[in-house]
Amino acid sequence: MFRPYHFTKIVQSLARQQALMSSSYCCTFEDVTSAMTRIRPYVDKTPMMTSSTLNKMSGHRIFLKTENFQKTGSFKLRGATNAVLKIKQDLPDVSCVVCDSSGNHGQALARAAQSSDLKCYVVMPENSPKCKIDAVKGYGANVVLCEASEEARKRGADDVIKQHGGVYVSASQNPDVIKGQGTLGLEIMEQNPECEVIVAAVGGGGMISGIATAVKGVNSSVKVIAAEPERANDCYISKKTGVLTPNPTFPNTIADAVKVSVGKNTWPMIRDLIDDVITVSEDEIKHATLLVWERCKLVIEPTAGVAVAAVLSENFNKSLSKFFPNSKPKNVTVVLCGGNVDFAILPELLNCSS
Ligand SMILES: Cc1ncc(COP(=O)(O)O)c(C=O)c1O
Repeated sequence: MFRPYHFTKIVQSLARQQALMSSSYCCTFEDVTSAMTRIRPYVDKTPMMTSSTLNKMSGHRIFLKTENFQKTGSFKLRGATNAVLKIKQDLPDVSCVVCDSSGNHGQALARAAQSSDLKCYVVMPENSPKCKIDAVKGYGANVVLCEASEEARKRGADDVIKQHGGVYVSASQNPDVIKGQGTLGLEIMEQNPECEVIVAAVGGGGMISGIATAVKGVNSSVKVIAAEPERANDCYISKKTGVLTPNPTFPNTIADAVKVSVGKNTWPMIRDLIDDVITVSEDEIKHATLLVWERCKLVIEPTAGVAVAAVLSENFNKSLSKFFPNSKPKNVTVVLCGGNVDFAILPELLNCSS
């Protein structure tokens, strides 16, 4: 019997594999494996944990990739380290790196720069969590505060470069950053080879596009699902319309690390390699974050709670039913992308309805 759904899927899968091998993306599987060799001495292999509570609540076998335990408290060290080591190798005269960041990339770049004896400037929105501002300074970087908007961050970074020189390292669009983030995907497949689905939060898209490139290179049948706050749903809209559509205004969400929109370098990979996008409400993010604190005893930041909330949502099973004809429990890896929480948000976190 002719089954259009499966036929379409096969055609899409072949197109993806072809695209994976093409040079239309700024990051390939081989780039990610090279990045892994480069950064291995500098980043931790974080534990993969399980939770019977999350298994029961979701109806699936949940594996938690605990990048909240990564040095600097998030996966961002992978990409920043890869970018800094490449700069040291290719541009030995450069003495300074610059970025704009809500905090995690800033901390990661600051630490990577410090390890490589480079100066570092981090432009941060003035409403960034205090713990993140302090940590960036703690790794020896100079912090420049700016208004909380994407334009102000870019302008701030341009001004710093004009004043001090240096190379700009984008948190999610720099190809070497994306390659470094992809090492997370390689590690997931090594630690959980039976993995069928991966769920991770999306902001600028560096993490999820790197993961998808790596994972699909290991096993093209693994589904990679992006999770994002309803209030910052540019990835969802872009995938739905097929056109890159940034958030119209800087979003207001408790998941502070994913306020940035998907960018030009990550969009082609997100468009072709990400299987679905699930959006979650602020209450769902808060509930999921608290649940992981209380039941898994893991301190995660709300942005990591976005992926947990997605897996616990009704839309997750709807999404899986598109890909898997049977409704058996699936082996699902959820990326706990960071643990840098400003405890000043506790009242807001506890203030969720029901
Ligand atoms: C903890 C955390 N999770 C997720 C993201 C989103 O990553 P990306 O911008 O690469 O999509 C970020 C980005 O800052 C982050 O810090």
